[in-house]
Amino acid sequence: MEIYSFVSTKGGVGKTSIAYNFATYLSERDNYVLVIDQDHQCSISQLFDCDKQQHTVKGIYTGEKVGIKNVRKNIDLITGDYYLDRTEDWVISQPNTDTKLLTWVTMNLKDNLNISQYDYIIIDTHPDFRTATR
Ligand SMILES: Nc1ncnc2c1ncn2[C@@H]1O[C@H](COP(=O)(O)OP(=O)(O)O)[C@@H](O)[C@H]1O
Ligand SMILES: [Mg+2]
Repeated sequence: MEIYSFVSTKGGVGKTSIAYNFATYLSERDNYVLVIDQDHQCSISQLFDCDKQQHTVKGIYTGEKVGIKNVRKNIDLITGDYYLDRTEDWVISQPNTDTKLLTWVTMNLKDNLNISQYDYIIIDTHPDFRTATR
């Protein structure tokens, strides 16, 4: 498995477009791709027509249920959360803040979410250097 994050402290530079196009490119070459939307503007979730606020990415930080939705052939998505910035404000007071995502992926490699099945994880981010991006 390879993990790619698209990160810039500047907005409007093409993070979401490249993440979307790269995920599509990989999926069309028979790779199984998981896209994680870490931007509270939920742009990539909108591009996949999947921004319904249920079991969103927020759960990675809060311990709530995280849903994985199939959005295209070979592409699954963890939907962004329009209030992820508020969750970030809260999570900063919690222990091991910067390793929450890595811990969540590791914990879910084999069980019901079976993250290990993916060839690629593609992560879109908000233009900042806050908790979700780090
Ligand atoms: N390679 C490109 N050439 C021209 N326009 C682009 C390119 N990549 C992105 N855009 C446009 O630039 C704008 C910002 O792109 P976006 O991917 O949303 O940036 P970010 O996620 O960094 O905020 C969008 O309107 C998008 O269509
Ligand atoms: Mg974007």
